[in-house]
Amino acid sequence: MKVLVTGGLGYIGSHTCVELLQNNYEVIVIDNLSNSEVSVITRIEKITNKKITFYKGDLLNKFDIQQVFQQNEIDAVLHFAASKSVNESVKNPVKYYKNNISSMVNLLEVMEDFNVKKFIFSSSAAVYGSTTQQPISELVDTQAMNPYGQTKVIGEDFLNDLYISDNEWSIVVLRYFNPIGAHESGLLGEQPNGTPNNLMPLITQVASKKRRLLYVFGNDYNTTDGTGVRDYIHVVDLAKGHVSAVQKLLLTHGLHTYNLGTGEGYSVLEIINTFEKVNNVNIHYEIVDRRAGDPAVCFANPAKAKEELEWSAERTLEDMCRDSWQWEKALENNILPSRK
Ligand code: NAD
Ligand code: UD1
Repeated sequence: MKVLVTGGLGYIGSHTCVELLQNNYEVIVIDNLSNSEVSVITRIEKITNKKITFYKGDLLNKFDIQQVFQQNEIDAVLHFAASKSVNESVKNPVKYYKNNISSMVNLLEVMEDFNVKKFIFSSSAAVYGSTTQQPISELVDTQAMNPYGQTKVIGEDFLNDLYISDNEWSIVVLRYFNPIGAHESGLLGEQPNGTPNNLMPLITQVASKKRRLLYVFGNDYNTTDGTGVRDYIHVVDLAKGHVSAVQKLLLTHGLHTYNLGTGEGYSVLEIINTFEKVNNVNIHYEIVDRRAGDPAVCFANPAKAKEELEWSAERTLEDMCRDSWQWEKALENNILPSRK
């Protein structure tokens, strides 16, 4: 079975390539390296002892996509390639609508031309905006609060229209909650471009003294300790969810949407405390004002994925903190090639 993974050298895509290879899928990757580097291939191959076929290509260029389909009999596509910073999307919406929507139009058009109709879409809990219904089930209305989230809502609506037009499509939409952690081998993880915005890369950078202190955005939320609560999920569990989704895709038609989260919410202070304890380090932090647009609480009801995909997250918060720190140390010690 041959699968195409767009954005397969990025954070979640690379971990998913590992799981796919370990489950005997043949993996082809297209990535323009805008937020990843080619050395990730060697590292995926080292972990799995298997090869991937790589195309350096841009989904904004239809010819790049056509070439991949011409040269390979592809059974299904996992679509990770996108831009993913909420902050940047607010400052530069054109980039986000172009890279997240136009590229997806190109990809789905080529798929139609080659009669490949099995598709997995990387969506996000960002589509739920600031809903107060917690835990969040897939039935909660989508209401994105920023251009990035809006591109995910549009992507989902597009897929819905596509399926209505032709019900031979088999589509799985996966709404990720907060992926953190890294591969336990220490060979793969997140390499944020520039200054990170997300909590875990900031914590690891404070722990490694690349950054002096962590700003905790608000301690006056209506939560156990006043800090924001999120559903953090280990990236390897998330990657395994994609293997279950591909298996579903190959067996059925239809459009199915699943939350991929643990169903557990942890506060910012709980994350900091667990990180300190598991890794025996200090995280210097300061409480500051809330970050605009942050909901107090956001965690998944993952029951649908458990029932229909027979998947659930297994790794603990301790695992996530340990693996994130191991990855930061690998980056710090230059064990891995640095970003060009
Ligand atoms: P990432 O930036 O690490 O990976 C994306 C990969 O896609 C990169 O390797 C990049 O070079 C590539 N890419 C981007 N635009 C491309 C294009 N036009 N053509 C070809 N390649 C292109 O991001 P990630 O964290 O692995 O996220 C993967 C997907 O999951 C994205 O769609 C993202 O929106 C979604 N998502 C991520 C998170 C998260 O917290 N990381 C949460 C929810 C959803
Ligand atoms: C953010 C995005 C979301 C995206 C997700 C994963 C926003 C508003 N939302 O979610 O769309 O899907 O990342 O990429 O940006 N925090 C601090 N200090 C920091 C950073 C974060 O206290 O320096 C807190 C936040 O207030 C929040 C928690 O940590 O309570 C998690 O934040 P973050 O990692 O940025 O993820 P989200 O805001 O949940």
